[in-house]
Amino acid sequence: METLLQQITETASWLRQFNYHQAKVGIVLGTGLGQLVHHIRIEKSIPYNEIPHFPEATVESHKGQLIFGHIGDTPVIAMQGRFHYYEGYTMQQITFPLRVLKALGVQQLLLSNAAGGMNPAFKKGDLVLLEDHINLQPESPLRGLNAPAFGTRFPDMSCPYDRQLGQLLQKAAAANGTALKTGVYVSVMGPNLETRAEYRFLRMIGADMVGMSTVPEVIVANQLQLPCAAVSVITDECDPDNLHPVSIEEIIAVAGKADEKLSAIFAAVIRQIGA
Ligand code: HPA
Repeated sequence: METLLQQITETASWLRQFNYHQAKVGIVLGTGLGQLVHHIRIEKSIPYNEIPHFPEATVESHKGQLIFGHIGDTPVIAMQGRFHYYEGYTMQQITFPLRVLKALGVQQLLLSNAAGGMNPAFKKGDLVLLEDHINLQPESPLRGLNAPAFGTRFPDMSCPYDRQLGQLLQKAAAANGTALKTGVYVSVMGPNLETRAEYRFLRMIGADMVGMSTVPEVIVANQLQLPCAAVSVITDECDPDNLHPVSIEEIIAVAGKADEKLSAIFAAVIRQIGA
């Protein structure tokens, strides 16, 4: 069987044959958050299921595609849709595309996600910049990988989110009149949402919002020394003393409403990064 390293190299060279450009910024778009695509001058979109070694699509991920293009002068590669642990993939499969983006020359990474808000100051539709995270998913994407080519064995995580990118996002939000709060994100396995007791626990351990993604990608980005920033859209309010049932349809609808504001901020920052 091929090693992961061989697969990354093969996928990167398969994508390179199209000769689009030297990518600069990688983007991972979360659930219900696709409008950034309208800011991209698209050169090519490739469905994930056509890309060698990309995980095989499940119902959730089957619409996913990799988009090559520009925002302003900045060459970007966007992942429209991501892979989640709850779909049955391994952590290595979920983060495989990130390693490919890095091999294609991506130097900075922006991620978005939909998250449940546990901080009582957070309301539906709020945008929250991740300042830190807690990994409660059952695995690390680095488990088992120890070839030097993957990066250091024990990546430092004292500052997982790039401060400079965070400041750029804050400035862009202010310029657009959009509030960008800050918070700690906790990742859980899903796909079920949490019980009241679980929300209470997650709040107690220091988390402001909860979701089912992002952390594996950020761990790998840190191993790859790829500066990254992530923004959550608060899609439901998770007050254990006043919890209402919530459906994935509602979560997607709320994400969709906040998407335009989020996309404008991402696009503004990406434009500033330049060619
Ligand atoms: N819990 C976990 N993941 C989520 C939630 C939630 O409440 N909302 C959106 N994604």
